[in-house]
Parts: sequence; structure tokens; C-alpha cells
Amino acid sequence: CATRHYTFNIVSQNVTRLCHTKSIFSVNGQFPGPPLVAREGDQVLVKVVNHVANNITIHWHGIKQLRTGWADGPAYVTQCPIQNGQTYTYNFTITGQRGTLFWHAHISWLRATIYGPIIIFPRRNDSYPFEKPYKEVPIIFGEWWNADPEAVISQALQTGGGPNVSDAYTINGLPGPLYNCSSKDTFKLKVKPGKTYMLRLINAAMNDELFFSIANHTVTIVETDAVYIKAFETDVVVITPGQTINVLLKTKPTSPNATFIMAAAPYFTGIGTFDNSTVAGILEYKHLSSHKNITVINPTLPAINATGVVANFTKKFRSLATAKFPANVPKTVQKRFFFTVGLGSSPCPANTTCQGPNGTKFAASINNVSFALPSTALMQSYFFGKSNGVFTTDFPSQPTHPFNYTGTPPNNTLVSNATRTVVLQFNTSVELVLQDTSILGAESHPLHLHGFNFFVVGEGFGNYDPINDPANFNLLDPVERNTVGVPSGGWVAIRFFADNPGVWFMHCHFDVHTSWGLRMAWIVLDGFLPNEKLPPPPSDLPSC
Ligand code: C2O
Repeated sequence: CATRHYTFNIVSQNVTRLCHTKSIFSVNGQFPGPPLVAREGDQVLVKVVNHVANNITIHWHGIKQLRTGWADGPAYVTQCPIQNGQTYTYNFTITGQRGTLFWHAHISWLRATIYGPIIIFPRRNDSYPFEKPYKEVPIIFGEWWNADPEAVISQALQTGGGPNVSDAYTINGLPGPLYNCSSKDTFKLKVKPGKTYMLRLINAAMNDELFFSIANHTVTIVETDAVYIKAFETDVVVITPGQTINVLLKTKPTSPNATFIMAAAPYFTGIGTFDNSTVAGILEYKHLSSHKNITVINPTLPAINATGVVANFTKKFRSLATAKFPANVPKTVQKRFFFTVGLGSSPCPANTTCQGPNGTKFAASINNVSFALPSTALMQSYFFGKSNGVFTTDFPSQPTHPFNYTGTPPNNTLVSNATRTVVLQFNTSVELVLQDTSILGAESHPLHLHGFNFFVVGEGFGNYDPINDPANFNLLDPVERNTVGVPSGGWVAIRFFADNPGVWFMHCHFDVHTSWGLRMAWIVLDGFLPNEKLPPPPSDLPSC
């Protein structure tokens, strides 16, 4: 195994999109940022140097960070931010993972422009459990605002209303021909006929789940969230923010006299405004038989609220569950949790007018707790035994006032603000049921857990039934993930072993929902053996 060294300079630079030039934050002047490439088993050292006025942290989304929680990155959870002029080196080893993940800023809304792929190849003598692709291409979806995303979210938090929606979706930073003056900013994939390409799809969009499709081509899904799955073919991909999906694209045996549009557009069932535009890219064959009369073929994307398509698609994900790639699913459960996730509102401060529902402020919560980030880092406070006044350990394991989550919500849906956590003994087997609430409308929420992969053992629509639903759980070959879409108007059940000591953030990967409080933290205690303990923080860990 090798050690990979990277330097990420956080800088500002001018970028023009949609005929609009603005200054953005980036890594090394690249937008999207540079790929982090490694093999399974490698140690990775990324020296982050902050040259801008804003505080920064970087998260390695989906990297399990076994015993290296200090390198995880969420601001005020595992670390204090890296301030202007400061440097911090993220140091972790990639254990038991291969595939595609991504890295992104993890403070406020800076990930709108600070993100890039993580590409993990198998160990040197290992091969893919599928045909070796001729070429591999990262395809990273993002969102572009003509305004400064930091201003967009801070204005929303001040007025209590919803943030302005983005002006475009992007593929590898490019909006494509369906947007104003963007034809030259179009992602183009040139392919040879009769070959297999692997597309590494990454949804780095801030607030939207996406449908993705390529005209006249199907793709075969082989991996998600850096875990191989049982391959299946599809003509449309559904990808939530925080998810990554590797697909194989077999090109036509001979160059057709056509170019094919690939496009992504949102899946959305919630209320309020959202960006319902479409990003398009081009799939073009090399050596077209003629350059005249080339037809352009468009894909068909599902309707914006096609929940049925999403459910059918998600159901197909199954882990390989072979001796070489075993699914280590907890068969029995030591701790059960039932979390309601959804929107709500919180009181408007005195002497202000709020643009949220009925004059309140928009909020989002888990079990009615809207999680407040502390002004110091949770994990440092925990490690040095200074939790007093920073966090409590009484996060509710059940909703305090249960109601019909898919019916008419109760009148009082105000949430409380607090920094409450759950404490787990080392290696506890955990079952967590996530239930969408219909307060302010049913909506799918991409829930992301740091520090672990989990198994998606069950899901369904309506209210979760603790008596009958567990009988249908899949404990044999459930998909292993780090981000799962809680179905709109439904629930999902996940299981994992809490075998990684540290403090681990869990949140909705819609940044607007995270900003509104749909987040919490798990504290996993040390085990008895030396390799079951969280080591002390590195000496360059920033302080607040
Ligand atoms: Cu990709 Cu906590 O985030």
C-alpha cells in the first residue's frame, strides 16, 4: 500500500457561468475540484491550506475513517474550522472500500463550489467483479447560483424563509445548452463504438435529488457508495445528494449517425420553490460515419414527482454478499431508534417578521429536535471531558409526541433547538427507522451518516409498523450505503454496528435542511482493546 500526498489550497477565483462572472472559492483554482485518487488500503494525507477569509473544513464523504475521526471534517462536530492562514493535514487510511465517493467543504454552504471526486481503485492485484471498462469518467452533478451561496443561505436564515433556488444544475461544473448562453459550457463525452465505459456518477448538488438518463442507451449499475452491488440494467438513474453510483455504459457496435443527449433534472414532492431546470450534456461517437444530417436524440426523464419510479429503482439495490465481499448485517439488535425526519417551524424572534409558515421561521428536525451546532468542536469536548454547556446526551430515541406521520399533522409542530446526542457503547448493533413526516408536506430526505456504512434492511410507504414491517426485512443481501433517501411519505430501516469510536454527524444531505437543523450526532464510546479506542487529536488540529 502507498501513501498519497495532496495539497489543497483554498483560494478564490473568478468563474463565468450563464454569462455571469463571479468570485468563487475553490481548491487549487479548479472548479470542480481535483480528483483524489487512491487504492484500497492506501494512506491519504491531504494538507489543506486556507488562503481565504472564510473558515473552511473538508469532509471525505463516505470514507469510513476507522479510528481517524479527527480527519472526518464536519465543522464544529469533529473539528474547529481551519481559519485564514491556517493549515490542517487530514490523515486517513482507506480500509475495505473501493469505488467512487467525493470530498466537499463541510461548513455553511461552501460545498456549493468546493467539491471533487474520490476515486478508489481496488488493491493492485484485485480486479473489478465485472468487465474491466475501457475508460472511466467521473460525472459530478452540482448546482450553480449567480449569487454568492453564502449570501443566499444567510439571508434565508435571517428572514426565516426559504433560500433562493439555484440558477442551474451542472455536469462537471457545466450547465449545458438548455440554459441561457451556456452552449459552449456543455459537458461532452466522446466515445468509441463497441466499448464499455464506466461513469462514476456523483450527486454533489446542494438541495435536489436527480433523475439522470442518456438518450437511446441503458446503463448497468455495478456499485454505489463505494460498495459493489448485484448488477442491474436501467434507463434512468435516481441519485440523491451524497450518493455515488458507478454505471457501465456499453456503446453501440458501430457509430450511429446521431448524437445523444444526457440529462439530469430533479425529483421533488415537497412544497415551496425549487430549481426545476434541466442540465444536459452530450454523448458523441468518434468517427461519425457522416458529419451531415446528424440527428440529436433527447432522453425522456420521469415526471418531477415520480415517486413510483424512485421506489422501483431503489428496490433493485442488493449487496453482492459473497465470501469475498460479505454483508456484515446485524442479525440481532441491541439498540432500536425511531427518528422522525422532516420540516417544521420554530418561533420567530421578538420584533422581527419571519417569512416562514404562519409567521414562524422555517426549521427542520429529527424527533422535533432542531440540532444546534456548538461554537466549539463536539469531539474535542467529548475527548477532553468538557461536555458541560456544549452538548447533552439525551437525544430522544423515539418521538416525544407521536402522531400520524402521513396524515394531517398536529397543530403544534414547533421544534426545540438543542445540541443533544446519543451515546452508544462500542460495537452496539443499532437499528434505526427513519420516518418522513408530512408536516409542511411529504418529501424525500437523503439522510447521510458519517463514520459508517449501514445496511438498508427495509423501506415502505405510510407509517412504519413496528409489529409487522420487520418480518419483511432483508437481512441477507441488503444494500450497504452511507446515504439513503427516506421515502417521501414513508420510512426506511437501517442497521449498523457502532464499531468506530468517535463523534459522528448524521444529517439530511439537502444543505437547506441541514442549515434548518435536520442533523444530530452519535457518540460511540471506546472499546477495551487498544485498537478499539479513538486516538488523541493530531497536533495541528485547529482550535476554535
Ligand atoms: Cu457529504 Cu456531512 O456530508
